[in-house]
Amino acid sequence: MKITLSVIKADIGSIGGHIKPSKKLLETVRNYVADIGSSLLKDFYVSSTGDDIAILMSHTKGKGNPEIHKLAWDAFLKGTDVAKKQGLYGAGQDLLKSSFSGNVKGMGPAVCEMEFEERPNEPFLFFAADKTEPGAYNLPLYLAFADPMNTPGLLLSPDLSNGVNFHIMDVNYTKGDRVISLSTPQDIYKIAALLRDNERFVVESVTTKKGEIAAVVSTTRLHNIAGKYTGKDDPVMLVRVQKQFPATGEVLAAFSRAHFVGGGMRGSHNVPLTPVKNNSPTSYFDGPPLVSSTAFCVQKGKFTEAIDGFDHPFWDYIRLKASRKAFEMREQGFSGPAMLPYSELEYGGIVEILKGLDKRFKIRKK
Ligand code: 13P
Ligand code: 13P
Ligand code: MG
Ligand code: MG
Repeated sequence: MKITLSVIKADIGSIGGHIKPSKKLLETVRNYVADIGSSLLKDFYVSSTGDDIAILMSHTKGKGNPEIHKLAWDAFLKGTDVAKKQGLYGAGQDLLKSSFSGNVKGMGPAVCEMEFEERPNEPFLFFAADKTEPGAYNLPLYLAFADPMNTPGLLLSPDLSNGVNFHIMDVNYTKGDRVISLSTPQDIYKIAALLRDNERFVVESVTTKKGEIAAVVSTTRLHNIAGKYTGKDDPVMLVRVQKQFPATGEVLAAFSRAHFVGGGMRGSHNVPLTPVKNNSPTSYFDGPPLVSSTAFCVQKGKFTEAIDGFDHPFWDYIRLKASRKAFEMREQGFSGPAMLPYSELEYGGIVEILKGLDKRFKIRKK
């Protein structure tokens, strides 16, 4: 059976700053999808990561389906009404357009979708990250799909050792989708050369050499849409696991580095990506950037119950490491690598300060 998984995610308001949506807000979105989506969807799952609400849906309507996208958009609109009534911070933050035009792409919400023929048993992982950018998944995907130091399956499983194709988008290009496809193992240095730059080059998807979809990432850059800072582009991802794909534990292991990513406070810093339990709020420095992982099996479009990928004592150790790394970097305040480069500083303030100072520079004669 051919099934489509769609994740559509938005920040439509949260309690106490950019911390976590209210229960009422989550319930509003969930009830709307349950009610209006009952004839469209096979199944759905609504969750929050930091201040973002993600709607995971299964259906048979294919990718980019207007009815599915409208369902999520309308659920977020309905939620925004509640957020406004409750006085939540940033109510409707990610809904950048006033009228729906067939697809949420380019309208603010993050979206990733995959369509595939269901295997007899079909395990997959759903990731949601807050206070960071789509390139935050670059390194974990490289490690999970291309590096035998992380994924022993590349050596031990003949299904995996053929390699995969990485489809990478240049997200700075705004006139259309500028994408390159590269193959492992032959192109791994070229892939690394691009993925080094999380701000510009983002893994959009990974496919097997047979063309099966393995992973998809949302690649939205909100400030490219809005022309100004509107919050970070908190990304979602789906990864199929086991058999011809990396094992669940190999994909999760790729997050154990707590690598530095762009985001955190005011979307302007380098801070480590912390693997957290489902429905975690943000805290220190509006972060640290967090990623949650939820495991499912899907059969004929029906989800099993959700299992939390990072709810295990092992990850307490990684969370401690991430906190240490965050603290080390934050001791550096505004200096050097602690903050993102000028081109990524999303708040107008610093740009204005530098513009104002420009005319006060004097050139001293030699
Ligand atoms: P305000 O400037 O509205 O306080 O927003 C800042 C912000 O959201 C960064 O956390
Ligand atoms: P969000 O993008 O998660 O709303 O965060 C905005 C921000 O600036 C936090 O400091
Ligand atoms: Mg927010
Ligand atoms: Mg957010």
